[in-house]
Amino acid sequence: MRARLLLIIGGGIAAYKSLDLIRRLRERDFGVRVVLTAAGAEFVTPLSASALAGEKVFRDLFSLTDEAEMGHIELSRSADLVVVAPATADLMAKSAAGLAGDLASTILLATDKPVLMAPAMNVRMWEHAATRQNAATLRQRGVLFVGPGEGEMACGEFGAGRMAEPGEILAAIEQALDGEQRPLAGIRALVTAGPTFEPLDPVRYLANRSSGKQGYAIADALVRAGADTALVSGPVSITPPPAARLRRVETAREMLAACESLLPVDVAIFTAAVADWRPAAVANNKIKKHAEATPAIALAENPDILATIAQSNKRPALVIGFAAETENVLAHAREKLEKKACDWVIANDVSPGTGIMGGDRNAVHIVRRDGIESWPELDKREVGQRLVARIAETLGKRAA
Ligand code: CTP
Repeated sequence: MRARLLLIIGGGIAAYKSLDLIRRLRERDFGVRVVLTAAGAEFVTPLSASALAGEKVFRDLFSLTDEAEMGHIELSRSADLVVVAPATADLMAKSAAGLAGDLASTILLATDKPVLMAPAMNVRMWEHAATRQNAATLRQRGVLFVGPGEGEMACGEFGAGRMAEPGEILAAIEQALDGEQRPLAGIRALVTAGPTFEPLDPVRYLANRSSGKQGYAIADALVRAGADTALVSGPVSITPPPAARLRRVETAREMLAACESLLPVDVAIFTAAVADWRPAAVANNKIKKHAEATPAIALAENPDILATIAQSNKRPALVIGFAAETENVLAHAREKLEKKACDWVIANDVSPGTGIMGGDRNAVHIVRRDGIESWPELDKREVGQRLVARIAETLGKRAA
């Protein structure tokens, strides 16, 4: 399959052209998932759309079956491109205003993918100041447009507002997908993420509160930028980016072995919260409680995965560590930069009050030998995207 599209069919007479668009897209090996608005379903039937798409059609934000099979957030991100055809005045207004009262508008608000709109409406509606402004707002936010064209309309009037023809929409889709940035194509990346579990006996282990979210977000951003990405992950409960090569591990020693087996790579990013120590001995049976003595757990030091790889003869060109600190964040990060022979250390404050450990947001400082860059508090996905942009700049410069 060349790419996956999410096609939102709004309510307009031009909706019939969208059925032809689905057929042409399928012929060209695109996967098409259709969302039909309530108004759209007045013009084309769900049955025709699903027969052409070869998949069920999604219609209702509150349908339990739809939500159970695939949540609306996942749906909004399941495609490489979201196409709205016909994009009615109503859908454009909702999207510009950030409304999310139905499935189509919720997807447009929740998606992190590029959006292409093919407007279709009466000429007066298209020329109305409200629609002009909505189109300008959407364009400014990066929404792509194809059409509308001029001509005689179904309502009998003449002017701009006719939806672009399926062939034109198809060309715009191909252009939008080609234009997608893949600055890390050909680059190999390694990411460690999550906690490690260090067994004490068959039922107990030492662990920490890492959720793996930041590492998974970085792996996702790397994949999107075209990098061949391996993700070595401790036990977490989040979904990995589909295109990353996932290696699941439990202990620090397993994580090191997995990383070593994946070398050489061009860039390695160590986000895992590796346990510094493990129980020196693992009991074969569950340790029992005895009235007379509380067991003392002797610890042994774990290998430092980052330091080992940064000093190996297969050292990646760019080695990035994380420093999770609760005090003197920048000073500790600078020390780690030297001690672990990293190129950059991403420092963050994980004091309990910050909500960073396990949360969705992160405030980081990029500590390099030539200076420190501090970013505002961002969603962890955005931290991933920005970091990947920096990686692309750096590797690009070195290659040039
Ligand atoms: N790290 C690693 N292997 C370890 C410990 C840490 O690869 N055994 C990596 C982490 O993935 C992170 C960086 O080293 O990129 C720093 O981790 P952190 O826990 O902040 O540092 P420590 O070396 O454990 O130092 P301390 O706990 O004393 O702050």
